[in-house]
Amino acid sequence: MKYKGLDIISLRDLDRDFLDFLLAKTKEVKEGKWQNSCKGMVVASLFFEPSTRTKLSFDTAIALTGASMIGFSSAGTSSTAKGESLSDTIKTVDQYADIIVMRHSIEGAARRAAEVAQAPIINAGDGANQHPTQTFLDLFTIHELKGGIEKLKIGLMGDLRFGRMIHSLAMALSYYNVELYLISPSILQLPSYYLDYLDSKNIKYHIVEDFVEVGKELDVLYCTRIQRERFADPVEYEKVAGCYEISSKNIDSLSKDTIILHPLPRVNEINPEVDNDPRAKYFYQAKNGVYTRAALLGIVAGNIS
Ligand code: CP
Repeated sequence: MKYKGLDIISLRDLDRDFLDFLLAKTKEVKEGKWQNSCKGMVVASLFFEPSTRTKLSFDTAIALTGASMIGFSSAGTSSTAKGESLSDTIKTVDQYADIIVMRHSIEGAARRAAEVAQAPIINAGDGANQHPTQTFLDLFTIHELKGGIEKLKIGLMGDLRFGRMIHSLAMALSYYNVELYLISPSILQLPSYYLDYLDSKNIKYHIVEDFVEVGKELDVLYCTRIQRERFADPVEYEKVAGCYEISSKNIDSLSKDTIILHPLPRVNEINPEVDNDPRAKYFYQAKNGVYTRAALLGIVAGNIS
């Protein structure tokens, strides 16, 4: 009941107790406990921006919890296309739903929605800002495969500048005693706001440009796509597009125990020839999104305690 009605907007609003509780309850959901935790409730799923994994794993999670679902999967099929404001859309959906899951292209949209809705808002990604539920499944996967999170050496690679899942994950990992390797081309480095945040939490980090330099150190290599849609200038995107790729040629720069994660979708960052390597865990990671999101829905509903 402690987290009943909690808005899930940014990792900044959360703490280690919440994350540990969510990880424990996700494990129980995965073991078959807490089915129908939202029976009789209505969950709205509002995707103003495209999605495969987040949308469909929430759909599956909603079914697991026994809730009914309403919503839309593109802004074009809602009255947004007629010029309705975000606030009015959310105030309306708030009349129908007990929990609102939303993805939007504008940073801060989920925070704005939480200001006008009575129902808890779950941010399923807002622009280049945050993607908390991706982080929850990432943490769960790391915890499950590595037996914990403390003391791990974790590489965050790719688009650290625009990747909202990186921003959320870096903040979440700062609640644990980890060492980070921030691997990216110089124009895609983690914004200073997040570096300052890591400093404030005394998290040790290294800035590097190529994972082969540090691969043997890593317990986890978390790769991300370069977010073409967030670049104002296509010329800047072309400078860094395809700047790294994990393939059979370089995968043995990693240790035999390094797990490779990726929030997906991928473009060229991981060659499909790597998919059958035992270290490649990204599709397994995507499946954990169902259990994590089902646990989260039950928790904010106040029915998982
Ligand atoms: N990882 C992730 O957010 O994927 P989708 O954009 O397909 O939801």
